[in-house]
Parts: sequence; structure tokens; C-alpha cells
Amino acid sequence: MDLAVVVLAAGQGKRMHSDTPKVLHRLAGRALLSHVLAAARALAPKQIVVVYGHGGEQVRVAFPDADLAWVEQRERLGTGHALQQALSEVPKGANVLVLNGDVPLISVGTLRRLLEAGSGGRLAILTAELGDAKGYGRVVRDKKSRRVTRIVEEKDATPDERAIREWYTGVLAAPRAQLETWLSQIENRNAQGEYYLTDVIALAAKDGVEVASAPAADLDEVQGVNGRSELARLERALQRANAARLLEAGVALADPERIDVRGALACGRDVAIDVNCVFEGDVKLGDGVSIGPNCILRDCSIAAGSEVHAFTLIDSAEVGARCRIGPYARLRPGARLDEEVHIGNFVEVKASRIGAGSKANHLAYVGDSDVGKRVNIGAGTITCNYDGVNKHRTVIEDDCFIGSDATLVAPVKIAKGSYIGAGSTINKDTPPGQLTLARAKQVSLEGWKPPKKEKR
Ligand code: UD1
Ligand code: CA
Repeated sequence: MDLAVVVLAAGQGKRMHSDTPKVLHRLAGRALLSHVLAAARALAPKQIVVVYGHGGEQVRVAFPDADLAWVEQRERLGTGHALQQALSEVPKGANVLVLNGDVPLISVGTLRRLLEAGSGGRLAILTAELGDAKGYGRVVRDKKSRRVTRIVEEKDATPDERAIREWYTGVLAAPRAQLETWLSQIENRNAQGEYYLTDVIALAAKDGVEVASAPAADLDEVQGVNGRSELARLERALQRANAARLLEAGVALADPERIDVRGALACGRDVAIDVNCVFEGDVKLGDGVSIGPNCILRDCSIAAGSEVHAFTLIDSAEVGARCRIGPYARLRPGARLDEEVHIGNFVEVKASRIGAGSKANHLAYVGDSDVGKRVNIGAGTITCNYDGVNKHRTVIEDDCFIGSDATLVAPVKIAKGSYIGAGSTINKDTPPGQLTLARAKQVSLEGWKPPKKEKR
């Protein structure tokens, strides 16, 4: 039977107190909905349908993916109504898995187990007896057979029913045809005046369809995000799990409680990461790389044996082997460093290639430049790459020595082996192997006297 996944995401998320729709709030750097979609996609369904709410255009825009079908639920009349709307986009004959857009950590393994339990035309519900059932629908079972007979919402439950510890997580699976029939029969005569999806359970039982249940593996995977505190709690839970996986794989984390991975971090052997580092997007760290405390690395690769020292920011850059970066360095998009390059404190590199063994150890700006091998860039040197309208390139060939506080006005080429005197402003290409100076000659005035204070 083909599988279709319906993600209910029309909720307003009032308790977030935010202008951002709830499912767009971020967990480990990705929208809540994107976590749910990843789990859905791992099951390789024929179709994924997302139900979004009134004013939820932002959600749709955030996910332009071609494999998604969108259904707007104009009025929020309940979960049953939401699913009913979605069925129009579900292929006939499919088995339907219902997920919630605000339950981000649901695991693929659990979903597989649920689908297994629901095979053969059964209705399968994901339940839990973990934590506190408060606020959730309770799973009512027949006293003798222990079969599930219905789900009762807390607001409609009797005190006895409220005492039931088994609760419904909001995830279920059933064949489309049956769901369609049952959903056409549900009513909204209940405490909340809503069409409850959970009412289909009693209808299934009445029809003699077996209601199977699968238990959730842990509380985090069925935890919904209602407010900021749940979001923050799940963030920690996810980061802790990430950290555990890294430790398991042999990465030396100074403190697994103080690392944040908001994307995919791939590490070689003997990688060491100090405290308070943030990794965003795709980050690759080669064998023996060490990252000092308080670094932020986004979409970058650091080759084997390189050291990144404290308070360094690296964004969309490539660092070769055995480099030394920081402390307090900033590599911006398009920085590409060959091996054994040193980039020191308060040095910014952008859209530049820097050849093997070159150094810029202090206070420099290298932008839109091609720097050769074994170049030394002195403290305070900058490339003037911007004329106010256009960007221009600076070329510094191999074995150049750029004295401190030089100003290289692009477009300009410093030929192989050039020396540039400290404090020079260079706006013409230099010849190879010569010392070029461009600064006022130093003079000292003989017989000069310091000014005296005037008497009044
Ligand atoms: C629902 C279940 C409850 C279960 C709980 C698990 C029902 C009636 N109750 O309750 O048994 O224990 O989830 O978290 O289903 N949504 C829509 N359109 C609507 C209403 C809701 O898309 O008209 C979406 C929400 O965005 C959310 C999901 O459906 O993603 C669940 O809705 P919510 O209001 O949180 O349901 P609960 O009352 O918590
Ligand atoms: Ca809820």
C-alpha cells in the first residue's frame, strides 16, 4: 500500500507570543516543520500534504520544495476537520500517516514501528505512558480485551478517564478510504466545539476495525512545542544527543553541555572542540583539527591538523591543512586558504585565495585578493578593494613582503618577491624583487623649538 503523510500545521501557536508562525520557529537552526518533513521523507511516501492555517503563507513560502502539497484550512475547526481537508490531496488507496508540525523530534524508527503495527488495514495510534498525561487525549481500552475503544480529550473526560496514564501523541495511521468515511461522521458536539480527529478511533472500533497501538520510545520525540520553554528544552535535548553522538565517534568535546550544532558537523579522527562553539550548516573538520573556545563556524571545511583559536568566526570558507587561525580571526565567504597559512588576531579575509605558507598575523583586511605562497602581510595592512561603486582585485604574488600599515589600492598587482615599505599607499603595479616605497620622506628640522605658553 502506498504511503501518504499528512502534516497538521494550521495551529496559530498563540503561546509563542510571536509574529512568526509556530512551525517556522527554529530548533537546531531549522524550522520545526523541517524536522517533521525530514522524518516524513525518510519513509519515502508517495505524497506529503501540509495543512497550513489562515495567514500561514509564510510557511508555504519557507518550503518551496516540489514534493509537498499544500492545503489551506481557512477555519480552524479541529484536527478532524484539518485532516478531512487534506485528504483531497492524498492519492486514492494510500495509507495515511498523520503527523503534527509542532512535534519536531519524532523518530523515523518509531514511525516505522507504528506503520508496522497498522499494517493490514488496521488503524494505528502512537501512544505514550511517559511523563504526565495532563492536557492530552486519554486512550480508553476495553477492561477485558484491553483493546482500544476510543480516545477521550481531557476536556471531555470523566475523573476516571483523566486518571488513565496512557495518552495519545497525536500521531496515527489508517487507510485513506476508511478515514474519509469516519471523518464524514464525526461531529463537533464536545467541550471545545471542534471536529476531533480522535473521534475516528471509536468509529473504527465500532466498525470492527482493529485499533493497534505502538508506544513512543521517549518523551522528547512526542513532545510538542507550545511555548518557548518547550522549544528551549527540546533544543537542549537535541544538542545533548548530538554531543553524545560526537563523543561516541571519538570527538573530544571539552563539555558536551556547551556545544551547539545547527546543521551537519562531520569530524575526522582526534578532533578537539573547546567550549561554547557553534557549528552552522555543513561543517567538516579534518583529522586532528582543534577548535578553541567560543568559535562560530558556518558552512566551512577545515583540513587536517589545523588549529582554530578562540573567538574565531569562519563563514563559507575553506581552510587547508596545518593552518593556524585566530584568536579573533574572521574568515568571510569565499576565503580559501592553502596549507600552513597563518591568520592571526583581528584579521579579516574575504573572497580571497591565500597560498601555502603565507601569513597575516595581526590587524589586516584582505578582500578580493589572490595571495601567493610565502607572503607576509604586515600588521595594519589593508586591501582597498572598493571604490565606492565596484569591487576590484588585488594580486600579491609569491614571496612578497608587505610592510606594516600598507594600503594596497585595487586593482593592483604586487609582483613576485616585491617588498613594500611600511606605511606605503600602493596604487600602481610593482616590479618583481624590488623594494617599493610610497610615503612622504622623513624630515627632521634642525633648530626647531617647541612652542612656549603665552603669558597674558
Ligand atoms: C491533540 C489530540 C490529543 C492529543 C494531542 C497530542 C485531537 C482532538 N486531540 O490535542 O488527543 O493528545 O493532540 O499533542 O486531535 N491543527 C490543525 N487544525 C486545527 C486544529 C489543529 O491543523 O483545526 C493542528 C495543530 O497545528 C497541531 C495539531 O493539529 O499541529 C494538534 O492540534 P492541537 O490543537 O495542538 O491539539 P491538542 O488539543 O493538543
Ligand atoms: Ca497540542
